[in-house]
Amino acid sequence: MKIIRTTSAMADWSRRLHREGVTIGFVPTMGALHEGHRALIRAARLACDAVVVSIFVNPTQFGPTEDLSKYPRQLRLDQALCRKEGVDVVFAPTTETMYPAASQTVVTVPAMARRWEGEARPHHFQGVATIVTKLLSLVQPDNTWFGQKDYQQVALVQQLVKDLNLPGDVVVHPTMREADGLALSSRNVYLSRPQRQAAPVLYRALQAGAAAIRAGERRGTHIQRHMTRVVAAEPLATIEYLSVCNPNTLEPLSALHRQAVLLGALRIGPVRLLDNVLISFRRRPSRQM
Ligand code: PAF
Repeated sequence: MKIIRTTSAMADWSRRLHREGVTIGFVPTMGALHEGHRALIRAARLACDAVVVSIFVNPTQFGPTEDLSKYPRQLRLDQALCRKEGVDVVFAPTTETMYPAASQTVVTVPAMARRWEGEARPHHFQGVATIVTKLLSLVQPDNTWFGQKDYQQVALVQQLVKDLNLPGDVVVHPTMREADGLALSSRNVYLSRPQRQAAPVLYRALQAGAAAIRAGERRGTHIQRHMTRVVAAEPLATIEYLSVCNPNTLEPLSALHRQAVLLGALRIGPVRLLDNVLISFRRRPSRQM
């Protein structure tokens, strides 16, 4: 397995492999790799000839009050996981390499970035869009894997790739969960034992929303109420948002037709938990007269 540290070496490697007709699968990460990342790497391994994993804690997607310095960093362990999974290249650039002092350009996807996570973290998605643009330009993948857990990020990246004709198809992998339903996340390590016990409430709330839809409920506010009721019973959780949205635009839906995504963010102790459930359904049958 090759460790690449500079942008020029990364671009050279990809150019060479493409010349040789090798397909490249890409998994962008901020490290602290867990089973969710492992599943993305395995999917990339199956689909492409060579796999690149980037490990870069991107400073521009952290807000001033979010502690970038405390984000979990474990490059050696991450490299060991990648080696075990047959990754060809770990691209682990320094901040100075990715953002030289003179760099100015940023990328924004304004409508996608405005709501939900964007309200709590105003510059977050500009940071994500900028780094993803840079990574895709360097790695030149045939396919790039993202986890469904960060639904808004995935929707924004899909828009970005389409708008800027960036290389590769975006492949979305289902969210990996603990046995009690908690979505895997590098940030779960910050939860204390009681907070960890409380954390699955988010998935339970989303499931309650999905169950209401399956039972025939089509009014957005009523579905939201089902979800809110579940979280209200958990004293350690504070709701940031629980919403019923159009899966493509992420605009809130007042009435549902065929597909919806239920998006949720809760604060439990020091952690903002994110999760979502995508649900497809038939129109409610019209009553027989
Ligand atoms: O999801 C992440 O880990 C990050 O937001 C990403 C896509 C690697 C960009 O820094």
